[in-house]
Amino acid sequence: MTARVLAPYGERECDVVGRRETGGYVVFSALDAEGPDPAPGQFYMLTASGWGGQAGRPFLPRAFSVAAAERGARGVRLDFLVEAVGPGTTILATLDAGDGLRLHGPLGRPFSEPSELVDGAAGAILVGGGIGIAPIAILRQALAARGIPLRTLLGFRDATHSGGLELFQCQEVGLAYEDGHQGHQGYVTDLLQVALKGDDAASAAVYACGPPAMLEAVRLICAERGATAELAMEAPMACGYGACFGCAVPLASGGYMRLCVDGPVVRADQVETALVAGSGH
Ligand SMILES: Cc1cc2nc3c(=O)[nH]c(=O)nc-3n(C[C@H](O)[C@H](O)[C@H](O)COP(=O)(O)OP(=O)(O)OC[C@H]3O[C@@H](n4cnc5c(N)ncnc54)[C@H](O)[C@@H]3O)c2cc1C
Ligand code: FES
Repeated sequence: MTARVLAPYGERECDVVGRRETGGYVVFSALDAEGPDPAPGQFYMLTASGWGGQAGRPFLPRAFSVAAAERGARGVRLDFLVEAVGPGTTILATLDAGDGLRLHGPLGRPFSEPSELVDGAAGAILVGGGIGIAPIAILRQALAARGIPLRTLLGFRDATHSGGLELFQCQEVGLAYEDGHQGHQGYVTDLLQVALKGDDAASAAVYACGPPAMLEAVRLICAERGATAELAMEAPMACGYGACFGCAVPLASGGYMRLCVDGPVVRADQVETALVAGSGH
């Protein structure tokens, strides 16, 4: 298992250093002057000015996967991809250069190396859906930098519910849109079925993040084809560091895990289901 990067104790104040709109999403960047470099798949708990404003909402911090990270002279620049779906994401999506951001992280368990998942792995298949492409983007960058053979498959509902393709900095992305305005008309899991058909599926390491229904489809397809997969899952998170038990997810072997400390990246065969109540939008 790739070693998790440990978060320094407590929240840190950071400066927002950039914002851009990308399709229906927004990428905002924060300069973390004191924190370590995150590992792909880790997340941060975020709050900003305005928290607690709308009749007390949002009250708790919100969990965000890091989509890109780059170290410079003044610290590590963290890029987050956000879709405004509720009070917290609406505030975060309007942050601009010069605004403040409070963060705690990096938190959670990152993605594993392909060779840690599969003996003699032939390469990695990355599957992202909707706003869940964020951790797939930073994973792709890390694996590509080490020359690991990759296929990247991304799926979106329609043009409004999509964006962030520039985070992938590559041409060879397989695209699926449910409305068919670009790429394959249908689900990204249709592309995964095809990718696994052409291969010795057992030699592929599959990595996925997206809405619960997509992750459940990836889990079932990989189980059927004998492919090993890691899923970056979502659950309601109040604390992000193991104290509240709000993020409990049922294990295939019985009992529960706390997704914030035992995930958010989990082996697909470890969980009973990827359909977690209260997650996804
Ligand atoms: C590990 C992890 C990583 C994540 N990474 C990202 C990321 O990179 N980018 C990202 O955008 N999100 C990410 N999320 C999801 C994000 O943290 C949640 O969606 C968060 O709860 C949104 O906060 P919010 O205050 O905007 O909406 P919330 O209030 O939490 O609402 C969330 C959902 O409920 C719906 N909702 C809210 N209020 C109402 C209402 N009054 N009536 C009906 N429905 C309502 C919203 O439409 C939305 O679907 C991640 C979550 C986890 C656990
Ligand atoms: S979010 Fe509190 S225990 Fe996981």
